[in-house]
Amino acid sequence: MKSDKIDKDRLPTHIAFIMDGNGRWATKRLLPRKFGHREGVKTMRKIITACVRLGIKVVSLFAFSTENRNRPKDEVAALMQLIRENIYDMLKELIDEGVKVVFMGDLSYFDADIRASLDKVVSESADGEKAVVNIGLNYGSRDEIIRAVNKCVQEGKEVNEEIFASHLYTSGLPDPDLIVRTSGEYRLSNFMLYQAAYSEVIVTNTLWPDFNESELQSILAEYEKRDRRFGKV
Ligand code: FPP
Repeated sequence: MKSDKIDKDRLPTHIAFIMDGNGRWATKRLLPRKFGHREGVKTMRKIITACVRLGIKVVSLFAFSTENRNRPKDEVAALMQLIRENIYDMLKELIDEGVKVVFMGDLSYFDADIRASLDKVVSESADGEKAVVNIGLNYGSRDEIIRAVNKCVQEGKEVNEEIFASHLYTSGLPDPDLIVRTSGEYRLSNFMLYQAAYSEVIVTNTLWPDFNESELQSILAEYEKRDRRFGKV
């Protein structure tokens, strides 16, 4: 489906991606799983760029979960190496175009050199106003919620939704309007559980490395047709 089929006024403000299926993509080709993650980085770059060009204001991506830490050591090491080698280069062009990049998750998990690259991305992009790219790294929604609860307890005041949300990693960002999950799995896997209260969810069978702009446009066309009632009639 071509972009002229999309009504720009009905684009999601915030689209979020659960990028799943890298491992299966590689296994199908008799390759080690890390090759799937490597292809996944290329897709990440293409899809972020496509979203920004279409005019979507916030793009979130689940790149490494708190649970992913428990994968076999060599796979975790391969993911760390991919982050180390690609995080800056993948985003540089977008930063130059005025995209702000933020990370959600407990970044203290990462080695100092990776943290330095993440800091560089955040500081170089801090003034960007074109769009926000929000990447989940060592992110888990339950962990995020527990941290927020503890911050609220420390403040010792009664909380409301606004105060609570201001203690989440996503503070200041709108909730996702649309969550896209690739690889045909119908679950949220500890991703934005609080923020997803009224998100539309679209699952595609496509494995993340095969996901492309044309399918993104079809998904946006499907999203346009959704009747979002937010619990009302
Ligand atoms: C899910 O596929 C994907 C991941 C666990 C990792 C996603 C990471 C990237 C796309 C790259 C991150 C890199 C940077 C630079 C941020 P899976 O391994 O669970 O696939 P499977 O379900 O087929 O096994």
